Amino acid sequence: MTHQPGHGPVQISQDDIQARIQELARKIEADYEGKTPHLICVLNGAFPFFADLCRAIERPITVDFLQASSYGNAQESSGEVKLVKDLQFPIQGRDVIIVEDIVDTGLTLKYLMGYLDGRHPASLRIASLLSKPSRRKAELTIDYLGFTIPNAYVYGFGLDRAQLDRNLPFITSEEPAGDEEE
Ligand code: XMP
Ligand code: MG
Repeated sequence: MTHQPGHGPVQISQDDIQARIQELARKIEADYEGKTPHLICVLNGAFPFFADLCRAIERPITVDFLQASSYGNAQESSGEVKLVKDLQFPIQGRDVIIVEDIVDTGLTLKYLMGYLDGRHPASLRIASLLSKPSRRKAELTIDYLGFTIPNAYVYGFGLDRAQLDRNLPFITSEEPAGDEEE
């Protein structure tokens, strides 16, 4: 049995994802020359991107994990975020990169940035595999962005369809665009 892609407008191959991750890793290596960045994985969706990005960075890094859950409708974030799993390590004085799967409205990440900033890191940047700028409600700068995509519900490579399909090695979407959104 093979992984079957959907027929929607967004299709990003395994090769394209991996090539882009290598580019982002080179950029991070150059930007953090002589430093040890602390990468924070936002569970669950970011896990494959996080693992591949970390392995692609050929310099010392440290890692930690947090899990946030948005209140309300699972596919439309309210901006009210509950921390399901907090960080294990302090980030004061660290050069932090928060790693997300997708920035949609940006409300979840906006909240998390405020939370992390309150713990006084030396610097705080964002890496996200995907961005849907047409849906943005909160102003954010994504320092390390994989791909900009149109407004379609995407899944695969960490992103889920009712918790399934996170293990697809590519990103895909269903036809028609936005079918699963309200
Ligand atoms: P906001 O709107 O706060 O939400 O930026 C980000 C979170 O919403 C989920 N999300 C998606 N999950 N396919 C998914 O599997 C999508 O197309 C999608 N758009 C948003 C995701 O959990 C993300 O972290
Ligand atoms: Mg997420």
